[in-house]
Amino acid sequence: MTFYPFFMQKYFSLACSIALAPMLLTVPSFGAENQAPYLDSKLPVETRVDDLLSRLTLEEKISIIHADSKFTTAAIPRLGIPRRWLSDGPHGVREDIGPDTWNPAGHTDDFSTAMPAGICLGATWNPELGFREGEAIGQEARARGKDIMLGPGVNILRTPLCGRNFEYLGEDPFLTSQMCVGYIRGEQSQDISSCVKHFALNNQEFERGSINVEVDERALREIYLPAFQAAVQDAGAWSVMGAYNKFRGQHCCENDLLLNKILKDEWGFKGLVVSDWSGAHDTRECATNGLDLEMGTDREYNDFYLAGPYLNLLKSGELPLAGLDEKVRRNLRVMLATHVLDSGRKSGSLNTAAHQTVARQVAEEGIVLLKNENSILPLDPKTIKTIAVIGENATRLQAHGGQSSEIKAFYEITPLAGILNRAGRSVTVTYAIGYDAPAASQRSTRQRDAGAPFSAVELADRAVAAAKAADVVIYIGGLNHDLGQDCESRDRKDMKLPYDQDALLQKIVAANPRTVVVLEGTMVEMDSWLDKVPAVLQAWYPGMEGGNALARVLFGDVNPSGKLPATFPKKLSDSPAHALGNYPGTNGTVTYAEGLLVGYRWFDTKNIEPQFPFGFGLSYTTFEYSNLKLVPADGTNEIVTAQFEIKNTGKVAGAEVAQLYVHENNSSVMRPEKELKGFKKIVLQPGETQTVSIPLNQRAFAFYDPAKAGWVAEAGDYQIQIGSSSRDLRLKESFHLGQTVVAK
Ligand code: BGC
Repeated sequence: MTFYPFFMQKYFSLACSIALAPMLLTVPSFGAENQAPYLDSKLPVETRVDDLLSRLTLEEKISIIHADSKFTTAAIPRLGIPRRWLSDGPHGVREDIGPDTWNPAGHTDDFSTAMPAGICLGATWNPELGFREGEAIGQEARARGKDIMLGPGVNILRTPLCGRNFEYLGEDPFLTSQMCVGYIRGEQSQDISSCVKHFALNNQEFERGSINVEVDERALREIYLPAFQAAVQDAGAWSVMGAYNKFRGQHCCENDLLLNKILKDEWGFKGLVVSDWSGAHDTRECATNGLDLEMGTDREYNDFYLAGPYLNLLKSGELPLAGLDEKVRRNLRVMLATHVLDSGRKSGSLNTAAHQTVARQVAEEGIVLLKNENSILPLDPKTIKTIAVIGENATRLQAHGGQSSEIKAFYEITPLAGILNRAGRSVTVTYAIGYDAPAASQRSTRQRDAGAPFSAVELADRAVAAAKAADVVIYIGGLNHDLGQDCESRDRKDMKLPYDQDALLQKIVAANPRTVVVLEGTMVEMDSWLDKVPAVLQAWYPGMEGGNALARVLFGDVNPSGKLPATFPKKLSDSPAHALGNYPGTNGTVTYAEGLLVGYRWFDTKNIEPQFPFGFGLSYTTFEYSNLKLVPADGTNEIVTAQFEIKNTGKVAGAEVAQLYVHENNSSVMRPEKELKGFKKIVLQPGETQTVSIPLNQRAFAFYDPAKAGWVAEAGDYQIQIGSSSRDLRLKESFHLGQTVVAK
């Protein structure tokens, strides 16, 4: 009996059956009794890969390692291999893009759950929530027929100006590693391959396709690579995306050191390396330096570097067939490991209430309370009669912006909608836009709604009048995803609030001192108004449930527990790359002269006061830390466990992120003043005390020694510092490491 396996049904639905009809004649029949080994899901993946590889022709092998449309690779119908679908990432499943252009495909079934931006996830400091976000996105990806999801983005925030900081998880390698591991495990639990990006050193958008990054070996290993290593080794990420930029003179998608030596040889990565879209540049380099799948190159698909040109070099014997087999093997391994050819592959779910809940929880836990004088927050609807909501971001839809990470959200609750829903009928909510953000698409609607265009002065006057008439003002401004702000492919030009918001805020707070400032986007300078306003919330891009999450924080249904995943400098020139004049580089090269001193490592070591420090975030309650003990560990991997108690000393339940930093007293090499090596988020009822344990392994004490090509935890004295932020350290204890340990 001949049967057509289930994936052929998928193929039928994806491809035109008329075109298929002649090809089907060549499909081998796979009777249940003599099924081809590669189709037997009970066999080990490697056995199946060997078998499948042996059945492929040279041309079929080539077809597996390059694109056949913007986001797919070709099917091989005779072997039942369906088209492979890749999709952005990382905040949900992107809308479908036309096969050969960047325009939307115009589908009506590609609305998805829009999660908050990566930096908001980073601010939750909750890896378990990272898992749930990854899992939800994985389920949506399956429901939308995707195989590889292009995320998470784990590049380190080196400069506040990088246009893609919002997609990433912050400035610290340990935090970023922990958060991405949770996300990847969750996503890959759904028979999807995550694709961690952009490997590596893609820390600015300026000249991103050509800029050459020079960084010393220690900073490379200690700051820029750990999240990728954790993604591969701890989470088992199946795919890695090469970055656009160059590193030590070689493009990252064709970089022998990064791809062959570090990723594959040292870290033992068994999955595939995909180019960033148009990140490949040369056939021989791609062929030999570790790229396994070429996407997005701006030419005919058959002319991709890893298509016709590679085929020719293989046929002429100039490049070895073994190199091709290795690439194909990696692609097949990912395909089989994610059950692409198996009947029991997870089928996913889309736009469920459960996914929307995850989106809301990430936003609720990621919003950071930066200031709250006289406990102006949470708002009490019983005592407030009128709220003036002011600011363009109160009504702006943000999910569908920022370029490749944009999501066609199933819906999006704006901040104003969230506040209106939550405030209830007893409170009058007024709205004034305050300033006009001249995004062409939005402007015409606004002007039509308003009846006539208003000048900036008129808009500000109306906002001031609204502020005066209200009991409390909720100002919702900040940045947006327009090009030149938080948007892929261009950096910001400065760290200032756009659209003259600084001046507007001064007028509003003068009109009504009870002004709560809510900022969307990434970090901005706040110097000119910060000391005048009683409360500030950093809301990032909080996703499609963002308005509800924000309202729940404002009204105290949720006690804020987010902590900054990056230092907020007072001014741009305080931050390391700018203080040293190492941004955006000269003559096509940017040298990371600050080395290890990225983010708080710089501010702490150089004693520069930030606006808000790394790890900072207030709560509506207070926490007391006590009883730090260092307990020697009995396991082989762990060296010591820090144990301490935290008590909720306030009147409401809340969550605290306890942070552990390690300081080495007399290091033989330069080390940052302190480094995050552990954290734990715990929920405490009023009056409740919990004991927290944070284990530390060898790596927690180690620096990278290029001479030894390994991690050295040197014998000596250390200080273990525990606190509520990097600059609010509540407990300290000395620790002596008796013996130097070197590890790979
Ligand atoms: C971005 C990637 C993205 C890819 C596909 C590139 O421009 O850098 O992050 O995954 O496009 O959209």
